[in-house]
Amino acid sequence: MRKVSLDYNFCMNDNLKNGIGVNDIDSSMGKVSKGFQRLNDMVESGEIGFPKLAEVDLGELIGFTKKFQGLYNDLIVIGIGGSSLGFEAVANALLPFGFNAFSKDKRGFFPRYWVMDNVDSFKVYSILEHCKPEETLVVVISKSGSTVETAANFLVVYDWIRKSNVDIKNHIITVTDSSKGDLRKITDMFGLDSFVVPANVGGRFSVLSSVGLLPAALVGIDIEQMKKGAEYFIQNGKSIFMTISAIYNAFLERRYPINVIMPYSSRLKSFSEWFCQLWGESLGKRYDMEGRELYFGSTPVSAVGSIDQHSQLQLYKEGPFDKLITFIELSEHDFNQTLKGDWYENYNYLNGVDLNRLLNIELYATEVALKMANRPSIKIVIDYLDEFSLGYMFMFYQYVVAVLGLANNINPFDQPGVEEGKDYAYGLLKRKGYDARRNEYEKSGKREEKYKVGL
Ligand code: PA5
Repeated sequence: MRKVSLDYNFCMNDNLKNGIGVNDIDSSMGKVSKGFQRLNDMVESGEIGFPKLAEVDLGELIGFTKKFQGLYNDLIVIGIGGSSLGFEAVANALLPFGFNAFSKDKRGFFPRYWVMDNVDSFKVYSILEHCKPEETLVVVISKSGSTVETAANFLVVYDWIRKSNVDIKNHIITVTDSSKGDLRKITDMFGLDSFVVPANVGGRFSVLSSVGLLPAALVGIDIEQMKKGAEYFIQNGKSIFMTISAIYNAFLERRYPINVIMPYSSRLKSFSEWFCQLWGESLGKRYDMEGRELYFGSTPVSAVGSIDQHSQLQLYKEGPFDKLITFIELSEHDFNQTLKGDWYENYNYLNGVDLNRLLNIELYATEVALKMANRPSIKIVIDYLDEFSLGYMFMFYQYVVAVLGLANNINPFDQPGVEEGKDYAYGLLKRKGYDARRNEYEKSGKREEKYKVGL
C-alpha cells in the first residue's frame, strides 16, 4: 500500500517567525470540519459528484479502450482547462519522458498522444503534421459542449479527418454531458461513441471521470489503480487532508496572497498546473454564498524542484513575505543512478551519491534555507509515484479545495469569472444571443492611442 504523509514543521511558529500556531490550526479545524460536513451533505444529496467517482465500476470503460490497443498510432485529445489538464497530469507523471518518440513496440502498442488545448495555429498545425487521419483516434472533451477553443479545434480536426475519406465513427470519440450541449448533438448526429461527464462533476473536478480516465486508459495507464488510490484516500486520508486544509485555511485567513506548489520531480510539473487551475478557479471568488463581496482566494503558483531553485527561489527567500510553499517529495524513485565522480577532484563529493538522493537533498536544503529566512513551507511526502498514489493525490486535493471553499462560505464549484470572458468572446465572434456582450465590449474595451507606445 502506498503512503502519503504531511510534514508541517516548517510552517509552525515554534520553528520560524511568520509561522502559525497550534491554536491557529485548531481554530481553522473547526471551520474546516464544518466545510467537510457541508461537502458530505452535498455529496449525499447528489448535488456534488466527484467523491463518488471513486466508486464507479470502470469495467465498461476499460473494456472499450482495450479494443483500441494497437489500432492507432496517434491519439489527439481536444479539450481545455478541466477537460485537458487532468489527462496531461496523468501522462506527465506516469509515462516516460519522450514517450511519443519511442517505437510502437516500446510504447506497448499504445498510441502517441497530443493535447490540443489552445487555439494556437502553430501548435494545431504541428500536431496534425505528425499524424495521419487514418491512423489517428481523436477524443473531444467538453462538459458544456460549447467551449470555443474546443469547438474550433474540433472543426479543424473534423475537416482533416473528413477529407481523408475515413469513417469518422472509427476516429472520433466524445466525452460530454449526457443530454445537453452542442457536442452531444454532434455525437448523436454522427452516431459517435461517447462517454458522459456526470452533471454533478465540474470540469476541474473531473479528472477521475471519463474526462481524464478515457484518454489515460487509451495510452495504457492502469486506471483501475488510479481509482483504487482515490478510494483509499476517501477511506483513510481524513487526518492528513483535514490538517493540510486547516493549515491552508490559517494562511488564507492571514491573507497570504500566494500559494506555491513545488514538487521535487519533473514528473509532477503538469500535476502542479492541474492543481493551479483547481485552486485558482475554485477559490478565487468575489462573493460569498450570500452574495456579500469578499474577494476571496490566493494565487497558486506552479514551480518544480530543483529547476526553480535556479529561477524562483531567490524571490521566495528574499522577496516579500507573501507565500506559503507546499513541497512534494517522492521518497522512492525508479531508475536509481549512482554517480561516479572519483575521476575528478571537485566532483568527489558526488561520488557514490544517487540522482534521486541528490534531488531530495536539494529539497531538504531548500526547506531549511527558507525556514532560516522565516518563510513558511509544508511538505507532502509520497512514498512512490504510480497510478495509485496519483489517484490518491487527485482526490486529496479535490477534497482540500472543495472543503476550503465551503468552509469559507464561497462556492468552489462555479466559475462566473471564466464564463464572463467566454461570453465576451462569443459576442465578438457575433454568436447569436451575445449581442449585449459585444455592445458592452465596444463601450468598455476602447483604448486611446496616447497610452500606446512602440512601432
Ligand atoms: O473547471 C471548469 O469548469 C473549466 O475550467 C472547464 O473545464 C473549461 O472551461 C472547459 O470547459 P468545457 O469542459 O465545458 O469545455
